[in-house]
Amino acid sequence: MTLPGDKSISHRALMLAAISEGTSLIENLSEGDDVQATRRALEQLGIKMESLEPGKIKVYGQSKKFSSSSADINCENSGTTMRLLAALLAGQPFFSRLIGDTSLSQRPMERIITPLRQMRATIKAERKNHRPPLLVGGNKNLLPLNDYTLPIASAQLKSSLLLAALFAKGKTTITEPTTTRDHTERLFKSFQIFFDETKIGTSKKISLTGPQTPQACNINIPGDISSAAFSIIGAAARPGSHLTIKNVGLNPTRTPFLKVLERMNRGQFRIMHILVPYPGMAPKYALSGTDPFADPFADPFADPFADPFGDLVVEGALLSGTIIEGDEIPGLIDELPILAVAGALARGTTIIRDAQELRVKETDRIAALVYNLRAMGVSVTEYPDGLEIQGGSRLQGASLKSFGDHRIAMAFSIAALFAEGPSTIDDVNCIAISYPGFAADLNNIMRHSS
Ligand code: S3P
Repeated sequence: MTLPGDKSISHRALMLAAISEGTSLIENLSEGDDVQATRRALEQLGIKMESLEPGKIKVYGQSKKFSSSSADINCENSGTTMRLLAALLAGQPFFSRLIGDTSLSQRPMERIITPLRQMRATIKAERKNHRPPLLVGGNKNLLPLNDYTLPIASAQLKSSLLLAALFAKGKTTITEPTTTRDHTERLFKSFQIFFDETKIGTSKKISLTGPQTPQACNINIPGDISSAAFSIIGAAARPGSHLTIKNVGLNPTRTPFLKVLERMNRGQFRIMHILVPYPGMAPKYALSGTDPFADPFADPFADPFADPFGDLVVEGALLSGTIIEGDEIPGLIDELPILAVAGALARGTTIIRDAQELRVKETDRIAALVYNLRAMGVSVTEYPDGLEIQGGSRLQGASLKSFGDHRIAMAFSIAALFAEGPSTIDDVNCIAISYPGFAADLNNIMRHSS
């Protein structure tokens, strides 16, 4: 199978192209509703975009200038849209009002409000506990952020501050104690934004001197590994399965769930990368037996900027339970719902801790997982920051709830395939938020299975 373009990269590519000098061409853009929300928001702010064919779009950059919109800007279900766009709008001379759907309206914005205010941005959440709508803007003269350590391991927060730093006069320095996805940093290099990075273990310090204007470029977005995770785990948990996923993003800040899967299979199945570090380079094969998690940039000719991608081969086996916690969590935060399902299918106990961020995603994902796993007859203990799953007994078909959350709906579609008897999942339209083709792709894979 091939996957649509990565959602995180798509948001960032559109936003950076919009504030660039010149015209950018973006290929394999995500067609999910979240990215469409970003596209519509940018168009409402005066950015011209032209769809050439599905997933291929020309963006006419306006050198960091937007036109003010008297209408509210609707970020719909997308936290990435709201948190990153707020940063771009903080340095505009006019005010904007960012709104979202019921889910987004309950998500915390304090994490961006506090540091953006330190940069002298005017930004205010209208509801209590810093919940959206957000009113932001009216200040062209942002100050740089001096030596700021991220209090939460959040790529959205890091990216928001790095984008704001492009508008501030002077040097912003941000420390990230635990690695989170680094698509913003990689795209900054593609858009010729200059910054310094120092890495010590999982910690990274980024310094960027503003103001800077990105330079337009062409971006080819790899398939979304987080969307692929549902089919990967479905195949990995079923002995005899064989699934190849082509041109999927293999950025090491997004693949830690593959390492968890390796742990769960006790070496009985293979995940094989075929690495193509950058477009145009001849495919490099990491054959079975070599380290599938080898750094793709170890190759002296690989482009250290672009997001690595390649083909992934998954072979199924019986899984065993595992513990997922600590610094591992931020790198697989979006895969935790489907990893919890893997835990229910695995023999033994699976424990997920330090994942309190799951409580403030599109829904409270810990509560949603506990509800649905219990409905399927799984014994689960709920913790404030995770859950413990007793795996290995046959799942029972059940009446399940998506809670309007795309990843919950997809995770339990996979769970339902392993259950005895039919399951129904309510409200599955939300799947289109990240992966409109999910049902078609899944049906296609299942057609090939005996
Ligand atoms: C995202 C970062 C993650 C992730 C979300 C997308 C991004 O959120 O859960 O789906 O594009 O930066 P946090 O960075 O807030 O953990």
